[in-house]
Amino acid sequence: MVLHRYWLHLSTIVLGLASPSWASFENTRVTRSVDLGGSLVYTTTTYNVKALEDGSNVYLFALTEKEQETTSWMEAKVKGHTAPLSLENHGLSHDATYYYSVALPKALDKDQTASLVLETVQAHAAYPFPPEAAQDDRQALKYDTDLFVLSPYKSLTQTIRFNTVGFPILGYTQPKEVAFTTGTIAAKSNSGGAIVFGPFSDLPPSSNTDFIEKHQQKISIFYEFGFPMLAIRSLRRAVEISHWGANLNIQDEIDLYNAGPKLKGQFSRLEHQTQVYQHRQAPHVLTELALQLPAGIHSAYYYDTIGNVSTSHLRIAPSASQGGLPGRSSLLELRPRYPLLGGWNYSFTLGWDSHLGDHAGWDAEKGRHVVGVPIMTLFGGAVVEDAEVKFVLPEASTDVEVFPPFSPSSFSSAMHTTYLDTTGRPLVVFKYKNLTDKHTGIIYIAYKVPLSAHLKKPTAVGIAFFSVFFVAFLWKRVDLNLEK
Ligand SMILES: *[C@@H]1O[C@H](CO)[C@@H](O)[C@H](O)[C@H]1NC(C)=O
Ligand SMILES: *[C@@H]1O[C@H](CO)[C@@H](O)[C@H](O)[C@H]1NC(C)=O
Ligand SMILES: *[C@@H]1O[C@H](CO)[C@@H](O)[C@H](O)[C@H]1NC(C)=O
Repeated sequence: MVLHRYWLHLSTIVLGLASPSWASFENTRVTRSVDLGGSLVYTTTTYNVKALEDGSNVYLFALTEKEQETTSWMEAKVKGHTAPLSLENHGLSHDATYYYSVALPKALDKDQTASLVLETVQAHAAYPFPPEAAQDDRQALKYDTDLFVLSPYKSLTQTIRFNTVGFPILGYTQPKEVAFTTGTIAAKSNSGGAIVFGPFSDLPPSSNTDFIEKHQQKISIFYEFGFPMLAIRSLRRAVEISHWGANLNIQDEIDLYNAGPKLKGQFSRLEHQTQVYQHRQAPHVLTELALQLPAGIHSAYYYDTIGNVSTSHLRIAPSASQGGLPGRSSLLELRPRYPLLGGWNYSFTLGWDSHLGDHAGWDAEKGRHVVGVPIMTLFGGAVVEDAEVKFVLPEASTDVEVFPPFSPSSFSSAMHTTYLDTTGRPLVVFKYKNLTDKHTGIIYIAYKVPLSAHLKKPTAVGIAFFSVFFVAFLWKRVDLNLEK
């Protein structure tokens, strides 16, 4: 988990003392829906809760060890509300469960109810099964999980539903000797693209070793997936800001791979061409990518280790300053130099320029520039295992303040000098792990460029720069400044 790892140790101790008697709620109903994808699996769990005592305001979510290991993003809300609740990670408890708490916006009195929604994205939770496939085989994946959603509270009913994106479920584990039910345990939908386990009734608190040992069961869903399993091993974004040319350059170095089944036997280009020609291309062969880039960009380039690649198509949307509607994106369709089979890698570099005014604003109150850049190029359904975003600020910038949309796993700053610079350009680097398509957002960075910068001595600038302020979660304030 990227987001909350800072909490782990301290909170484990605190919760360890308080844990067993948090019986201030009961779940009247728990329903989990799991959207089975490729590299990413999305879960949504709705907890209908009832307070058992007055003033109940802290609710605990429980994750199994396996869920904790794969969960890369999570968000909790009161159903129907848009503002997320702040989730606090309490780490691993003695009963083999990870707890997250939320404070309800309003405490509940006895018998009052609320509906809470917990969404998560799991990375690399599904895997190719079998691990190898012939060129004309379909792509089948397997997802392993637990039958019961854990909770420290009693649950009157519970169901768990698995959905594919329109492809058939090929098989599943039939749980045996399941308690808490008298009827059917597993029922597949008529279309074959969904399966429901449950309902189970009158479950005692389940996030404890006693329940887990007696009742928890592993289940697997085996399903067809009709898209390539795209994963990004690393994405290094470099952002270079130049006030001289009023230019912002973004360059992404991308190492991607196909996490789908490995090819059984030899790759046949003839068979591949035939499949393409007949529009029945193997889903486990990646042949093209469609990427959304910012509006109003120009001079886009795309090259790999061999050289320029011309098989790409870019449709540029006008930026707001060019009269375009806000929120539009340009679309880049590109073809890797070769079709990418399961286990194959492809590295390439993608870059473009933008008019600086499309990304920058002037904070008049503080007399500084503010530049906002998306944290990454989104690859739908893919996990970015290692991400880096590096800003190269204008020469002699001072008073640098950064506002990332969520905390990085590491953050550093340094001075970058090229032979043209006399004083050097401040460099700010953010690193992240396991970003998903829910990790959207803009990194804002504020800095001053003194008019007299070119007169100052390098040492003076160096000292000023190293007072970089790290301020997460305050970006909204800056956002307002940009809209002026
Ligand atoms: C990233 O995800 C992988 C696979 O789910 C996991 O093994 C790894 O621990 C995660 N890394 C971090 C820093 O969360
Ligand atoms: C790619 O093409 C552009 C012009 O189209 C050229 O300026 C650049 O040097 C080429 N890069 C490589 C790596 O071949
Ligand atoms: C892809 O890259 C990974 C990591 O660099 C490497 O272990 C693997 O062997 C590569 N796969 C192929 C088919 O070259």
